[in-house]
Amino acid sequence: MKTIINIGELTGIVPEGILRKEGAAMSDTGTLKGAWLRIADDGTIADFGLMSDQNPACRLWPLRTGGAQDSGQTETDASPLPDGEQIDAGGGLVMPAFCDSHTHIVYAGSREGEFIDKINGLSYEQIAARGGGILNSADLLHRTAEDELYGQALERVQEMMSKGTAAIEIKSGYGLNPEDELKMLRVIRRIKENVPATIRSTFLGAHATGRGYTHEGYVQEVIDMMPRAAALADFVDVFCDEGFFTPDDTARILEAGARSGLRPKIHANELAVSGGVQVGVKYGALSVDHLERTTDAEIDALKGSGTMPTMLPGSSFFLGIPFARAKEFIAASLGIALASDYNPGSSPMGDMRFVMALACIKMKLTPVQALNATTLNSAYAMGISKQTGSITKGKRADLILTYPGWTLNRIPYTYQTPFIKSVFINGETAA
Ligand code: NIG
Ligand code: FE
Repeated sequence: MKTIINIGELTGIVPEGILRKEGAAMSDTGTLKGAWLRIADDGTIADFGLMSDQNPACRLWPLRTGGAQDSGQTETDASPLPDGEQIDAGGGLVMPAFCDSHTHIVYAGSREGEFIDKINGLSYEQIAARGGGILNSADLLHRTAEDELYGQALERVQEMMSKGTAAIEIKSGYGLNPEDELKMLRVIRRIKENVPATIRSTFLGAHATGRGYTHEGYVQEVIDMMPRAAALADFVDVFCDEGFFTPDDTARILEAGARSGLRPKIHANELAVSGGVQVGVKYGALSVDHLERTTDAEIDALKGSGTMPTMLPGSSFFLGIPFARAKEFIAASLGIALASDYNPGSSPMGDMRFVMALACIKMKLTPVQALNATTLNSAYAMGISKQTGSITKGKRADLILTYPGWTLNRIPYTYQTPFIKSVFINGETAA
């Protein structure tokens, strides 16, 4: 048992049983000013409350030094001193750690050369058409030993945890043949086994047509790979977009995924109005992601579904493409999640605080909406919002403690000033 005391502001409190926030509820979150939070031995949130609600005789309860026993206040102390460590937040803010429901962090090396091509005027599609892009990463990954790949990916996970992320979805998709796709999925499993963050794994065999295959031949290969991939992955994904996979390809792949027990998460509507949202909703996708190019038809298709629209403002920023219409989705009573899309081609960063800042500055979300989108709703988008993503009794204590005096608004506002004092993952200090 340990207790964080003297919390200036405890925010991101959500009642038990709420697994996502939609519409107007995205603008709400529970906040206590002057709070404590107790962490159980199993790493979950045991309880929290107001410092002022404690017995006035021990104003700074549960302070240990000079506590009840020593000062002879035993009979007035309604609340016994809890066992275990006490952490003085010193007036810092405590909020749920970030959840990042869309990343591609298992990749080899970088694509710095293409960064220069992009500066010189080539678009994402033009780079891909020259054999660069995803295929470039696939060639590099093919030449990289599994241990080396694991080491590179682990460094990215550690960087993300230090920036306050406690749950990460990681996709395959730079293998593009059975051997290399399975290599990636094994690396993700190894990460899952070795880091404190919650990891979810997604089979994205259909990220691009693998070298040496016809398009149709590769779609069939992805379908054939499904049972082996399903032994390692939690979800199936398809890049359903212009120049990559059609809604028909996507439907066939999702049917194969369903036969192997994999729920979809879809890349949709990044490069064009692709039909990806509709096919995703039809097959019960947990999320449809990107959505930079959407019409009202996509918003309508999502209404009443269990699918979380997920927006990736890091890609819009890096590629110079439109930001998704987050406010209109929320006005249509939908929820949205935000994720980093951390990958070497369209979003080479995994900083969820910057994602939050982009959402506020470029998509005009309020900081509370951005908080809900980067925590609870992003947890929902990887099927773990029963376990994490908010300050709720019984959930994992996945928390960010800030330096003293920080408010939620200031986090995306002064978006480069260091704000994290510590990160707790499952109740343990992880950074
Ligand atoms: O989500 N759009 C498809 N996949 C990634 C980019 C992958 C890459 O360029 O390496 C994305 O943006
Ligand atoms: Fe992606």
